[in-house]
Amino acid sequence: MDGTFNENDISRVVEADRAHVWHHLIQHKPFETNDPRIIVEGKGMRVWDQKGKEHLDAVSGGVWTVNVGYGRESICKAVYEQMMKLCYFAQSAGSVPGSIFAERLISKMPGMSRVYYMNSGSEANEKAFKMVRQIAHKKYGGKKTKILYRDRDYHGSTLATMSAGGQNERNAQYGPFAPDFVRVPHCMEYRKHELDGAPEENFGEWAADQIEEVILREGPDTVGALCLEPVTAGGGVIEAPEGYWPRVQEICKKYDILLHIDEVVCGVGRTGTWFGYQHYGIEPDFVTMAKGVASGYAAIACLVTTEEIFDMFKDNADDPMNYFRDISTFGGCTAGPTAAIENLKIIEDENLLQNCTVMGERLMSNLQGLMEKHAVIGDVRGKGLFQGAELVADRSTREPVDEKLAQAVVADCMAQGVIIGVTNRSIPGRNNTLCFSPALIATADDIDQITDAVDGALGRVFS
Ligand SMILES: Cc1ncc(COP(=O)(O)O)c(C=O)c1O
Repeated sequence: MDGTFNENDISRVVEADRAHVWHHLIQHKPFETNDPRIIVEGKGMRVWDQKGKEHLDAVSGGVWTVNVGYGRESICKAVYEQMMKLCYFAQSAGSVPGSIFAERLISKMPGMSRVYYMNSGSEANEKAFKMVRQIAHKKYGGKKTKILYRDRDYHGSTLATMSAGGQNERNAQYGPFAPDFVRVPHCMEYRKHELDGAPEENFGEWAADQIEEVILREGPDTVGALCLEPVTAGGGVIEAPEGYWPRVQEICKKYDILLHIDEVVCGVGRTGTWFGYQHYGIEPDFVTMAKGVASGYAAIACLVTTEEIFDMFKDNADDPMNYFRDISTFGGCTAGPTAAIENLKIIEDENLLQNCTVMGERLMSNLQGLMEKHAVIGDVRGKGLFQGAELVADRSTREPVDEKLAQAVVADCMAQGVIIGVTNRSIPGRNNTLCFSPALIATADDIDQITDAVDGALGRVFS
């Protein structure tokens, strides 16, 4: 296509997209005959596509990101003003919004004290892995380089984060991966029958004990860190069972293993607390966050550590190698922390943590109601406005439905103007969990509209 075109000429936009844009997470063959979807506008909980069709967005921008909803003038104005004043300077220097946001963020995270900026969740996790490796060299004579990660968890799309990736289908064809990343079993109660030796009672403690088994097998003096999602997201929306987290904390302390909590999805309100880990009384050494930090208004991710970790990187100023020798160019963009400050303020001013909890209860209760009506729902689970409904062909054996049927439910909801999600190219044969993560501003009517759409879709797909 030649020449320039006006963004209002939507058919040209679609043509340009078809001709030149490589979308994420999607097979493009269908676009040879069908138009790709272009999302043109968003306001509150709703988005409009190129045909002007309105959708209720029950997944906050597709991947649980736009926590405060679309069209927030206060964020846009603050970003505009900051960018006119100073758009960028490398983070080897400080910035006004960077300092302010760091202080506000830390005030929500007792026990933590330092914020390192970058621009994606994958990158935040990689920075933590690098710190673990550097600590291994500085403090443990090059041992303790191993990083444990959990089956079904996801930590990013880069090769190192995929090395810590517990989703085999997502990882397939991208190996070989980096050494010294070691998998521990998942802690999913609903599928505990698939784990050898899992008990009926006290499954949470047992699942944590499996981590200890891996540590003992590998050698505790070789293991530097354990990286976990507080509630596993793309691996099936999995909350750890009772008894799990206290044992995890105990095991980390016992073997001098750093605890890295990946809050890329749960962070900044998604589960009804500022951070997912705060439900469980644990004390992490590293917390990474991205998506909800600025609700997608600007790219920002943070790695937050304790002062104890920070001190390890400045304890000998005479040694020119003795600091964290790392940079993220766009970690110096001021739009990120500026948007993040306003995002935090909106959550506080509008009491959105509270709304998340209340609306989360409504969503859960509606989904449980659907479970009584539709035998295909085998399990509903989650925390706050972060929930999943696992679809099974047979409740007694828990055999998953064919993923095409789960996708058909999503497509039916889309046709009704409600965007929901489904686990996607994650666990082989287990891409069968519908995902819900509406913005924290959701009202009771929004929640009911979402579950009514699912009700209708299940009725049609499984009639
Ligand atoms: C738990 C978790 N960690 C890390 C990431 C990676 O974040 P990003 O896509 O910003 O690199 C994701 C993305 O979905 C995620 O769900």
